[in-house]
Amino acid sequence: MEEQQRKYRLLFVCLGNICRSPAAEEIMRQAVMRGGDESEYALDSAGLYGGHAGASPDSRMRAHAARRGYLLRHKARRVEEKDFDRFDYIFAMDDSNYDALRRMAPTVEDVRKVRRMSEFLQHYVSDSIPDPYYGGASGFENVLNLLEDACEGVYKKLKNGGGL
Ligand code: 4NP
Repeated sequence: MEEQQRKYRLLFVCLGNICRSPAAEEIMRQAVMRGGDESEYALDSAGLYGGHAGASPDSRMRAHAARRGYLLRHKARRVEEKDFDRFDYIFAMDDSNYDALRRMAPTVEDVRKVRRMSEFLQHYVSDSIPDPYYGGASGFENVLNLLEDACEGVYKKLKNGGGL
């Protein structure tokens, strides 16, 4: 099925699109696949900063994700205005991403598509999915823990119907 015809079109956005958002995309994909709903979902990720465009995810994130069974194959790209047409929900990893995406939204309806990923945490308490780029291993593990929790939260809500 074409991307545009899918029932749920979700875009995950961080700064570089090499750590948090490609992990979010793959974790969400596996959650949806476990539920047998992959044909209903179009999933992608993008970054606000275009400097890593075309690159594979950060090798540290790939290694941490691989240990949990997530193979990150995404190639980084910059988020663009037309993403607001292509997707129903755009998930920001932190407040800086959230503010930048809202400023970028072409219409008031599009502003409403922008959501904070941390809003969907069910077990962890955190205001953001913190940038792990300049930190150590524990930052990457923390991101994966938070994203597994929040992706389950998103999936559960969408499965219940009525949107987010
Ligand atoms: P991400 O992490 O936003 O989770 O992909 C970062 C990647 C690259 C940079 C910052 C954060 N950077 O400054 O290049």
